[in-house]
Order: sequence, then C-alpha cells, then structure tokens
Amino acid sequence: MNKFFLNLGKQPLANNYLTKYQSKQPMYLLKIFFNTKTKLVSISKRIPSKKMFNNKYPYKSSMSKTMQKSFFKLSKEIKKRFNPKLLLEIGSNDGSLLTNFDRSKCIGIEPCSNLAKLTQKKGYQTYDVYWNFKTVKKLKKKFKNIDLIYSANTITHISNLDDVFKSISYILSDNGIIIIEDPSLLECLKKVSYDQFYNEHIYVFSAISLKNILKKYSLEIFDIKNLSTHGGSLRYYIKRKNNKKLIISSSVKKQLFKEKKYGLNNYRTYKNFSNSAEKSKESLNKILTNIKNDNKKIIGYGATAKATTVLNYCNIDNNFIDFFVDTTPDKKNRFMPGKKIKILKYNQNILKNVDYIFLGAWNFRNEIFKKEKKFIKKGGKFITHIPFPKII
Ligand code: TYD
Repeated sequence: MNKFFLNLGKQPLANNYLTKYQSKQPMYLLKIFFNTKTKLVSISKRIPSKKMFNNKYPYKSSMSKTMQKSFFKLSKEIKKRFNPKLLLEIGSNDGSLLTNFDRSKCIGIEPCSNLAKLTQKKGYQTYDVYWNFKTVKKLKKKFKNIDLIYSANTITHISNLDDVFKSISYILSDNGIIIIEDPSLLECLKKVSYDQFYNEHIYVFSAISLKNILKKYSLEIFDIKNLSTHGGSLRYYIKRKNNKKLIISSSVKKQLFKEKKYGLNNYRTYKNFSNSAEKSKESLNKILTNIKNDNKKIIGYGATAKATTVLNYCNIDNNFIDFFVDTTPDKKNRFMPGKKIKILKYNQNILKNVDYIFLGAWNFRNEIFKKEKKFIKKGGKFITHIPFPKII
C-alpha cells in the first residue's frame, strides 16, 4: 500500500528552463509516497517521458569534473574487475562514461536526441530510444547478449520498473553484471534533501527497496558502494541469483543494516522527514528575509533541478535571489522553472558585488568552494539548506 508522507506543492518540470520570462508552464502537484510492502519511495504524479526527455534536455554529465572523474574511475574498475566483451549504458547522456571504453565494446541508449547526437559524433554506437522491452527485443536480434549493463541516474526516472528489469533480464548474459547508480534514500533523509524529489525522479531507491524489486527477476545485489556524487549515491552491483561465481560482499549486509537502523522500513521515519522539510523551509525563508532586510545581494549558484524544487516549495523568487549563475551553455539566459529567476552564464566577475551565494549545486560544494576562493577571501558568504539552512 502507498502511504502519503510529503507534499512539495505545485512544481514545474524541473529541467524546463524557460526561454522567456512571460512563458507559461504547467505546474504539477508533487506528493511523495512510501510503499509499506516494497518499501519503495515514489512520487504520485507521472509525467509522460516525452515531455521531460526529448531533444532539448539540458543536463550534460560532462559539465562536471566530479562526474567525469567518477566515470573514469568506474571504467577502470569495470575493465579490471569484469572485463566485459560488450557493455550497454542505459541513459548514456553525452557519452561521459562510454568514451572511456573502446568504441567496438559499448553501446549507448539515450532518448534525448541532442545528447545522443553528441555521443554519436564521437563515433560511439548510440540509439536515441527509450529503454523498454520493444527496444530490447530489437537489440537482442543484433547483439544477442550483453555482459554488462550500466545505468547512472536513469532507472529512477522510468515509471515502469517492471518493464525496465524485465528488459534487462532478457538481454543480460547468464554471468552478466548490472551496475546501477542512483541517489541514496538514506542520504536524502539524513540530509533533509527534499530537493531530490522532482517530477523526473519518480523513485528514490534504498538498498532495501531495490532488493525487494529485484527478487521478481531472480536478480540480487552482490556489492554496494557509497558515492559522494549527487549528494550521496549508492552504486549497486547486481547479478543473476543462479550465478554462484560471484560472492555476495559484506557491503550489502552493512548497507541493509544501516538502512534498517535508520528506520527506512518504517512509515514513521518518513513522517519525521516531512516535518524536517517543513522546518527547513521556514528556516531558509527566515535567513533570506533577514539578509534582504539588510539590503544585501543574494545570487544562486548552480541552476539545478534540485534548486527548482527548493524555490517552488519555499516560494523563493527574484525578490530574494537576483539571478543564478551556471556553466551549462543551454541554461544561459533562461529562467528557473516556476519562479522565473534569470540564469546568467558563469564568470568570476559576475560575483563582484555579490554578498551571499545560495548553493543550488550543494552537491558540488567542495568543487565550488575551491573555485571561489577569491569570493570567500573578500568576505563573501554561502547559504546552504543542506542538511539544515545556514550561512557558511
Ligand atoms: P546537478 O548536480 O546535475 O543537479 P540536478 O540533477 O539537481 O540538476 O547539476 C549541477 C549544475 O550546477 C549544472 O547545471 C552545472 C552547475 N555547476 C556550475 O554552474 N558550476 C560549477 O562549478 C559546478 C560544479 C556545477
């Protein structure tokens, strides 16, 4: 049974950066639920994929050094530990992972054609299609089996999980490996990161819920790694149950224990999280109001999807934040969805007369602090809402 625990109010599509201030955009009520049987956390309203993942998707994983490093490290590990003859990536974005592999040894699946094109241009086989059984049936004819299926921050964006795993199981070789990487529900709750929820993030997985889902497909997790990316993620290594060559690492038991101990099995934990989110909202508004009463200038740094959830949930508009800066070319001169705060192209001069920076990309806090030493030296301050609103 799905039990409601958090209402984030009316939210726009988080990656729908407006080209004009006047542009109209649909808003959807964003409510979050906990499934008492599978322990899966999900949003209620499902938006058709085509509305979110199309030829205009702005997010490019290559824009961040942190993500590039993470992909490079993982590719080295995959080659050494599993040495797959053929690797397939679901949601290959602009090819940040694939380009670490030999062109003849990998395939990308990326429905956002603007991103798929970028990978194709580099000479990598990339299909601009959605991951579903129809796609997989065609792939199976051409490639037979796949030894390693990788997917980062994509599976949780697909509504029909049954179709996702049925398709994976259909094409995976007998001794094949699946590696899935997504934000960790435990970290999300610990950090009061209610901004992990937006319309694209249909699910936020925990090891507990993923384990429960995989059972049906005779798949099981055999290793788990904690990652710092996207504010705290988990990388799950999955195999077929009847593949006895791989031993289940103690990391799996450890993560399941941590999650149980924190209460991810209990509805009450989620109600507490909801109360914390409400308090976080009040506190952030107080901090911003006090700064504005002092006539100081606040800007946002990192026009993230997460920031869109924060702005719309906390009702923060350009009375508080003058503009956002971001390095992504496709976000330049656009407006934050819903609250219509302008996004300017990042350059260091832009921070000259700024007193406070709201960290939209709080997950890159260290990378940003390193970059903005000059701003900090001059007395500039940061505002973060994670894990609880404060000035740094
Ligand atoms: P991301 O972490 O993917 O967040 P979300 O999934 O919530 O959209 O996005 C990070 C954004 O921050 C991206 O638009 C690039 C931007 N960014 C900067 O502008 N400057 C930086 O130094 C870094 C690290 C990121």
